[in-house]
Amino acid sequence: MAMQPNVDLDAALKEAADKYATANPGSRAYHEAASKPIAGGVGRSSLYFRPFPLAFSRGEGAYIWDMDDHRYADFMGDYTAGIFGHNHPITRRTITETLDNGIALNGPHKHEAPFAEALCRRFPAFEQIRFANSGTEANIWALSLARAVTGRTHVMAFEGCYHGGVLNFEHGPAPVNYPVPWVLAPYNDLDGTLALIDKHENDLAAVFVEPMVGAGGCIPAEREFLRGLRDATQEKGIVFVFDEVMTSRLGPNGYQGEVGITPDLTTVSKYLGGGLTFGAFGGRTDLMRHYDQTGEKPLPQAGTFNNNVLTMTAGLAALEEIYTEDAARDLNARGDDLRRRLNALASKHGLPVQFTGVGSMLNIHFTAEPIRAPEDVLKTDLRKRDLFHFDMMDQDHFLARTGMITLSLPMTETEIAGIAAAVDEFLASRKSLLTG
Ligand SMILES: Cc1ncc(COP(=O)(O)O)c(C=O)c1O
Repeated sequence: MAMQPNVDLDAALKEAADKYATANPGSRAYHEAASKPIAGGVGRSSLYFRPFPLAFSRGEGAYIWDMDDHRYADFMGDYTAGIFGHNHPITRRTITETLDNGIALNGPHKHEAPFAEALCRRFPAFEQIRFANSGTEANIWALSLARAVTGRTHVMAFEGCYHGGVLNFEHGPAPVNYPVPWVLAPYNDLDGTLALIDKHENDLAAVFVEPMVGAGGCIPAEREFLRGLRDATQEKGIVFVFDEVMTSRLGPNGYQGEVGITPDLTTVSKYLGGGLTFGAFGGRTDLMRHYDQTGEKPLPQAGTFNNNVLTMTAGLAALEEIYTEDAARDLNARGDDLRRRLNALASKHGLPVQFTGVGSMLNIHFTAEPIRAPEDVLKTDLRKRDLFHFDMMDQDHFLARTGMITLSLPMTETEIAGIAAAVDEFLASRKSLLTG
């Protein structure tokens, strides 16, 4: 009877998908209409899921409403960019005031340097920074800088990690990836990685690491792994880059502040633009000085919207008035508490289910085995994740199909208790499908 649970899981998944399709005619109609002008119907691949993605009409505080006017607690939080919740009054005020004074000002403007200074105060690795428009751009700029400065060609990243739309190693290197010679190393495997660094030491310009794997499953790097990478790159003159596009929210001074390890360069994006389009990279002055246009053979780093006035003002207000260092401590403590509560529920039901992560970012996994690398996630039965996603939407909670859950600032104990109750109900009602 070994096949029986799989058959049941497929049947349950089909039933859940059918129920979802029936309940969401507005999202289905929207997806069909959008598929004419937009290739594939969705502007961000990660938002697509079968049979069609939920489409939204508005958001307020910790909640979002879809095209059929169902209300959801928003635990997706726009893949960590939506940390402020929706319609934040400080962001509204800041954007309105900025618009009143014009937004395409042609030159450097008075809002840029204060924002850059605030970012440098916040993240230890930032001695100097430059702005870009997304996390993908920030990473491309950082790897280009490392290649230009070291004169080397290769870049190391880790299997299963994600550094942007064209820097995607989630299922091996994506065919659309940025064409530099990549060296892919095993995450959290220091010996395996050091062997690859030794092998390629004359070619490696940079090592890129997510200090906690985000989209690949909220898998924290072990401290000794990061320490070992820091030491090896320093010894061999390789630029060590923390991709903190997601993780910078996990402590008052980013993840680098939490682990006490300072990389050569850091890249950020997401919420740090106050909800608007944003990216930045920066680090050691001796690397960043190559952008000094009065220097010898300066490097260009251009982009029409790099100093977007709206982003600079909304980002500064967000950093100084909303996601302050105290707010970061508080939100991440609430996330740690939620993760403990959800893991206790899995234990209560005696199920091989676990929630990994740090602070305000967590991810469900359907296994009792340790999750130390993205490949451990891919070995689990991902159909259970899909079922979880459908069942959580059915209980008015929206999260990523990958099972990633993020907290936002307007959430109170009401929303936290709400998601714990929804997970409890899922584990109880689907117990027989989740045991194996
Ligand atoms: C770790 C990491 N790096 C880079 C990116 C790319 O950022 P963006 O979507 O702003 O291009 C992401 C996006 O999710 C990310 O999670």
